[in-house]
Amino acid sequence: YVLGLDLGTSSLKGLLVDKAGTVIGSASADYPLIHDQSGYSEQQPSEWLTACEKVIEQLSATINDFKTKLEGISFSGQMHGLVLLDEEGNVLRPSILWNDVRNSLECEQINSQFGDQILSITQNIAREGFTLPKVLWVQKNEPEIWDKVAKILLPKDYLRYWLTGNYHMDYSDAAGTLMLDVKHKKWSEAIQTEYHISENILPTLIESYGNTGKLTEDLKAKFGFEHDIQIFAGGADNAVAAVGSGILDHTTGMVSIGTSGVFLSYENDADVDYKGQLHLFNHADDAYYSMGVTLAAGHSLTWFKNTFATDKSFEELLANIDSIEPGSKGLLFAPYIVGERTPYTDGKIRGSFIGMDTTHTLDHFARAVLEGITFSLKDSQYLMETVANKKFERIISVGGGSKNNNWLQIQADIFNTPITTLIADEGPGMGAAMLAAVGLGWYDSLLACNKAFVAYGDTVYPNPDNVAQYADIYAEYQKVYAATKDIS
Ligand code: XUL
Repeated sequence: YVLGLDLGTSSLKGLLVDKAGTVIGSASADYPLIHDQSGYSEQQPSEWLTACEKVIEQLSATINDFKTKLEGISFSGQMHGLVLLDEEGNVLRPSILWNDVRNSLECEQINSQFGDQILSITQNIAREGFTLPKVLWVQKNEPEIWDKVAKILLPKDYLRYWLTGNYHMDYSDAAGTLMLDVKHKKWSEAIQTEYHISENILPTLIESYGNTGKLTEDLKAKFGFEHDIQIFAGGADNAVAAVGSGILDHTTGMVSIGTSGVFLSYENDADVDYKGQLHLFNHADDAYYSMGVTLAAGHSLTWFKNTFATDKSFEELLANIDSIEPGSKGLLFAPYIVGERTPYTDGKIRGSFIGMDTTHTLDHFARAVLEGITFSLKDSQYLMETVANKKFERIISVGGGSKNNNWLQIQADIFNTPITTLIADEGPGMGAAMLAAVGLGWYDSLLACNKAFVAYGDTVYPNPDNVAQYADIYAEYQKVYAATKDIS
């Protein structure tokens, strides 16, 4: 067996998979977020270790041959979170997570003073989520802690350090630190010099399917394994979810709609120039991926339901949307309810309904919300198609947004691309299991492993009439940001 550990923002999930890609079992354990001040979001790294113990103990207790058959472990991790360790490997302060936005000033400082170099070295511009501006915040506000820092890790690297005793970071997660020379796959000396970061506090870089060592003897005894367990590096959650969805060439895109939404595409090299409007990171395969983020995707729908349809379930709220024509009879929704990340990095913009009419019903509003979320993701697809001349042959839809057939049709029509779902939407856990399977040599490549591990469901095809209507409405949607950004 291989175990994929998905270290998320609210829980750690373990997915146990056999050599043929069959899911044998799963377990999960939650941990809290700490929001001490507005804009702060932290977690105690010790919580991840406790959750991992619980997951392994649950799997041991429920699956008879877990202890005898487990061969390898790999990871998917929430990106960007800063973990600071001292000489002895002790945690110096709670981890500052990807969704912590205390560091706007540091982002402005990086972008105004060093922005061109940052973009050409890291292929990204500084944003609050990324690790480097978090480092600058600690340097400035907690110098006594910064003085003691001997190693910087990301969340799943800390968990892996505990399991193996070794410090590593894979390229896909290192890309999100804003300290990696993404094209040359090495830590950037220019960034280290500019921001006083010595090379020895950065961990050894490794491929996502690379072997980082064995489970320590102490933990082997504690968990009751009698043989060695090999531990493979793993990767950033978005990259690993892409692996688990089969995004292993540029013909297939991925749309993932959860609380936030992601539109992601494989890139053969790092030469494509999105000018920082999309993220460009190293993939967990030896390649790259571009990605746009809609901050409030599922969140917009949840907010709408909780505000205007409290008595309904999601199924009830969306039950009649197929009886409403594409375009919701002139009602347009922009999902900027918590600001936006892609393609406009704007924390101040807010959402809007445009074109409200006395004939609109709750069904029109519900459909308009789904359409607006999808248009926002289309903005990322549009950049990929216009800047990089991509033409997607199909898009894999994963997460909550793939569970409603009417929404899948809206996606096919707005993206003007066939949409396929996964039979078992196991997300990053499956991608992590695949990284261990390839690391162990069960398969020669992630592509070969994908063929064995991932089964695709039905495909929803674009309807030409709807595609034409949505092309016109999307042109209107594209005007909304500029027209509303100065209204507050
Ligand atoms: C990506 C990002 C999020 C986190 C969530 O840039 O900030 O998707 O990876 O875990």
